[in-house]
Amino acid sequence: CGIVAYIGQRNAYPVVLKGLKRLEYRGYDSAGIAIINHGLHVYKKKGKVAGLEDYLTGRNMESHIAIGHTRWATHGEPCDRNSHPHTSGDGKLAMIHNGIIENYAQLKQELLNKGHVFSSDTDTEVLIHFIEEIRNSNQCSVEEAVRIALKRVVGAYVIVIVDEDNPDTLIAARKGSPLVIGVGKGEHFLASDASPIVEYTKEVVYVNDYEIAIVKADELILKNITNERQTPYIQKLDIELTAIEKGGYDHFMLKEIFEQPQTIFDSLRGRLDAKNGQLTLGGIREYADVLKNANRIIIVACGTSWHAGLVAEYMIEELCRIPVEVEYASEFRYRNPVVGPGDVIIAVSQSGETADTLVAMESAKQKGAIILGVCNVVGSSIARLSHAGAYTHAGPEIGVASTKAFTAQLVVLCLIGLKVASEKGTITQQRFQHLLDELQDIPEKVAATLQLNDAVKQVADKYKDARDFLYLGRGYNFPVALEGALKLKEISYIHAEGYPAAEMKHGPIALVDEQLPVVFVATRDSFYEKIVSNIQEIKARKGKVIAIVTEGDQIIPGMADDVIEVPEADELVAPVISVIPLQLLAYHIGVLKGYDVDKPRNLAKSVTVE
Ligand code: G6P
Repeated sequence: CGIVAYIGQRNAYPVVLKGLKRLEYRGYDSAGIAIINHGLHVYKKKGKVAGLEDYLTGRNMESHIAIGHTRWATHGEPCDRNSHPHTSGDGKLAMIHNGIIENYAQLKQELLNKGHVFSSDTDTEVLIHFIEEIRNSNQCSVEEAVRIALKRVVGAYVIVIVDEDNPDTLIAARKGSPLVIGVGKGEHFLASDASPIVEYTKEVVYVNDYEIAIVKADELILKNITNERQTPYIQKLDIELTAIEKGGYDHFMLKEIFEQPQTIFDSLRGRLDAKNGQLTLGGIREYADVLKNANRIIIVACGTSWHAGLVAEYMIEELCRIPVEVEYASEFRYRNPVVGPGDVIIAVSQSGETADTLVAMESAKQKGAIILGVCNVVGSSIARLSHAGAYTHAGPEIGVASTKAFTAQLVVLCLIGLKVASEKGTITQQRFQHLLDELQDIPEKVAATLQLNDAVKQVADKYKDARDFLYLGRGYNFPVALEGALKLKEISYIHAEGYPAAEMKHGPIALVDEQLPVVFVATRDSFYEKIVSNIQEIKARKGKVIAIVTEGDQIIPGMADDVIEVPEADELVAPVISVIPLQLLAYHIGVLKGYDVDKPRNLAKSVTVE
């Protein structure tokens, strides 16, 4: 979910509405706003922010305080009634919430026994009634009631409350979900991330877990859960407004795909000096020895970041000879994993806020492991909880389907592997230099690959009506096949499966007939001959083969139905290139089918619930 709030001299509604549009990638099942103008008014609608805007056109929305919410449903189906803000029983308090209140059922029962009546199925409404109940029975302020309530609440949350009786104050609190406060002149902006804030101010405060913020137009007070004042630490944002706007592209996703030559360059900037054979990773310098001597490395991540982790497993094992495991963060956390001192966890996350990844790393940290973060969002929760790390520097990623963040992750994980290998002496000087040179050339090769956009679009048009797709790859290209299938699923709603090409004969081959497009990621590498055999196995069963191959390939074009030729690269870095046509293929199929590729149904960019 995305939350945004404003207090200050401006009219709050346009600020909050625009903020909601910027945060919409975090969820778009419903949207809502509360303002104070001769009393508290709450407006909410199922569907995207534009629907709410239409609904509010022509109304008097004048107010100097407002809260807004865009929802990714957890408790309760998406509908007007379950949309945020939710109000207290007396209608005086309105609250927006991101996260989950795990013990809401118990709290709800207690409140029902006391006569509270609920109008939604959400955990959020329970919490605001709970806060109201405490305020009334203790005769205390809302701030005090929030503090008491949060001691009883189990779960992750960030909340912001407006109170009709105190129209000059916003009360916010966080545990486990992100909250950024923008500090302006006589005004404050609160949001789930910096994107609604950057056009107004570059000065921000990241609220910490268990902190409560009391925010007035010209004053920001932070307190911890035991009511002690904390000094707000003001940081400077280094995001530009252009980075979060579409800049002439039809969709953020396409813009982000096309930004990759630059974003990869940015990931390498100041780190790679191929000419002098140097590699610097300032963020993990202090942990170089720990990494070098690690018993094993465990990569925890979700979604696309997990796929980057799989590529890194192959890279790091080959380069550093350290055993690597790659875990779905959600599974790792809850199976009481064997982990402890000597293990290094690498948490990979674009947003740095994914709840499953965050919880997984916290529990490994408690067991004595060293945690490194590979995050895109500077100052994010995962970045802050890590002992050390390396940012991917891909810039804000808005399209829900991750693209540029993935290639940046691959590059940074490769840098980490190379750094450790060189310190550990598990790589020859010659191979080290060769891979530095290869990395240096990647932005240019990615730019060349993007020239294939029209060719990929034609392939998309040919296969857009297929019911299923199979994506196959081996070695470094196996995770690329998984990622290609995920991209297609996410934005075109076509069922797609990624598989190791050889494993295909143990099941998925049963799906093959003349209707089934099979995408082979078959660039020239040490598995090349083997994958050629796998292509034949598909052709023998009349499947349609779309092959991503290396320029100049003499064999596969004679067998495949459609071929996309990409620049040659060392197999270790080839995924950065071979994934590009798969991103474009998914994009074009999604667009040709008429879907909103930047906001695919049911998905959210940043999943801050477990
Ligand atoms: C969501 C997003 C995916 C992303 C995954 C992990 O599912 O839609 O694009 O890969 O979360 O997110 P993270 O921010 O941790 O990389």
